[in-house]
Amino acid sequence: MDVPTNGLSGGLALDRSFRIAGLEMPNRVVLGPMAGVTGRAFRRHLKRHGAGLVFTEMVSAYGIVYRNRRTEDYLEFEQEERPLGVQLFAAEPHVLGEAAELVLERERTPDLLDINMGCPVRKVVKTGAGSALLADPARAVSAAAAVVRAAAARVPVTVKLRSGLVPGEHTALELGPRLEAVGVSALCLHPRVASQMYRGTADHAETAALKRLVSIPVIASGDVDSRAAAAAIMERTGADAIMVARGVLGNPWLVSELLQTGTTVLGGAAVLDDLLELLEGVTAEMGQERGVRWFRTHLGWYLKRLRVPARRIGELRAARGVEEVRAGLERLRRELTLTP
Ligand SMILES: Cc1cc2nc3c(=O)[nH]c(=O)nc-3n(C[C@H](O)[C@H](O)[C@H](O)COP(=O)(O)O)c2cc1C
Repeated sequence: MDVPTNGLSGGLALDRSFRIAGLEMPNRVVLGPMAGVTGRAFRRHLKRHGAGLVFTEMVSAYGIVYRNRRTEDYLEFEQEERPLGVQLFAAEPHVLGEAAELVLERERTPDLLDINMGCPVRKVVKTGAGSALLADPARAVSAAAAVVRAAAARVPVTVKLRSGLVPGEHTALELGPRLEAVGVSALCLHPRVASQMYRGTADHAETAALKRLVSIPVIASGDVDSRAAAAAIMERTGADAIMVARGVLGNPWLVSELLQTGTTVLGGAAVLDDLLELLEGVTAEMGQERGVRWFRTHLGWYLKRLRVPARRIGELRAARGVEEVRAGLERLRRELTLTP
């Protein structure tokens, strides 16, 4: 079977720039939207690690339209995060369109707007948003058209999809060309069906099929946890870029591994320095209490990589304030340098 083409000749070449409509990304490694994770501090952190495009987590279009303060916080970002995409979710096309309009009227506007047509979480799906849009392709297309209209060529509009709702469905393939026809500038596919949540493996044959059906860029998402995995997906699908998500949790160095810009075998000191930087960023963003709570999960992911015993990780996670966390990490640094 023909491998669809992404214009890259040989090699992984993820360090080459790519375009979505008029927007140029410096490389082809994209940080995927992750609810509860990809806030400002995390995005800036991954940007420093080299990500070529970052996304906010999904933001409720209803929250934007009702001018909910907490929702509006999700729209804040720093210049250094550019190029940045804001991802919107809602069930109703006109709400998505109105929210897009409001986002683009803000003082600082994102470089791209994305629509979530993939979230499988019950809380979202039961409102008709996220992957529920796949159950109603006509509404999904109207939603995209409404956002494209609101964007009025100021920024490109993209859509992030799952393959379908249940096994055997290929809704993304049905929708791809229709979304392109209403002016969507790129598609991102996470080729699992919604009922799978995150189980099993992503079926990138679906991504390859989508790439063959459209001429806009396709970003492949799902199960990228190493350069070898990314190379296999890029080769198999002909995708234009690759998205990283769970793979960078506790391992932001995955980005440099994909770009081949850095070392991937890291000593404890580098991992601890990175963690401390993330701690600074996240406490500055969220305040000490929320920041430390958020940080605890990431701490576990990082330290498992260093093979720190679970008991030690547990002790470090129990630390209360930011000073206590910092002191615990410095103690660990001393312990690690003692270990041959
Ligand atoms: C904790 C978490 C939160 C996520 N939140 C979102 C989200 O808000 N919007 C979205 O489109 N995808 C979301 N995703 C899906 C990811 O962007 C990505 O498509 C998926 O995890 C598959 O990629 P991976 O195997 O590299 O993790 C989330 C995934 C995780 C693990």
